[in-house]
Amino acid sequence: MADGADCDGTLKVVLLGPPGSGKGTQAAVLSGRMRVPAISTGDMLREAVAAKSELGQKVQGIMAAGSLVDDGTMAEVVRERLARCGKAGGFLLDGYPRTLPQAETLERILGAEGARRLDAVLLVEVPEEELVRRTVARKREDDLETVVRERLRVYGEKTAPLIGYYRGLGLLREIDGNRPVPEVTAQMVAALGLNLD
Ligand code: AP5
Repeated sequence: MADGADCDGTLKVVLLGPPGSGKGTQAAVLSGRMRVPAISTGDMLREAVAAKSELGQKVQGIMAAGSLVDDGTMAEVVRERLARCGKAGGFLLDGYPRTLPQAETLERILGAEGARRLDAVLLVEVPEEELVRRTVARKREDDLETVVRERLRVYGEKTAPLIGYYRGLGLLREIDGNRPVPEVTAQMVAALGLNLD
């Protein structure tokens, strides 16, 4: 189910993992089966860059360098998008949150929408050299090997602390992402307790 679709499902899930771990690939499959929109902040920012909007012009250089867009800007982007899901609507968030302040912002946004809470955070784990192989082969603008290595460094510094944060909240489910795509999907379906066949 593409972003922008209705939010019939109610599960609220975050996909967490380094660049190239397969978050976007899995979000495209899972969201249709869960009947929730896949919300990719990376895709939203790339669309803004392509449209040469004010947001796009602000983030273009940051993304090309493999750095993170500031938390305040991302809060606006995500708040506006989640508001379209309504109070009960579920979602699959791909690429947000990426810092501890972003995780706190997400809790505030969900709380303000009427005691909504996350159901699970799926951590997709893949060895670093496989991540580099996958991303460099894809040839996206920010997939030059030097930029990928920087994105991985930023992930380790800014995003990896979320693993302990969500484990502490009892939400973390660990997924072996170094498997064929259908096997990774099957692990996620099982981790979410879904019966989707
Ligand atoms: P974003 O687009 O989120 O990039 P990313 O997290 O680096 O993720 P990728 O798209 O590289 O990887 P993925 O895990 O989705 O894997 P994919 O399925 O594509 O963010 C881009 C930039 O935007 C950031 O660097 C930052 O500047 C900015 N940004 C975004 N969100 C932000 C935020 N919250 N805060 C601040 N800044 C933000 O797969 C990768 C490749 O591997 C594909 O070719 C795929 O076909 C292949 N593949 C997938 N699964 C498998 C498998 N199981 N086996 C073999 N190959 C596979």
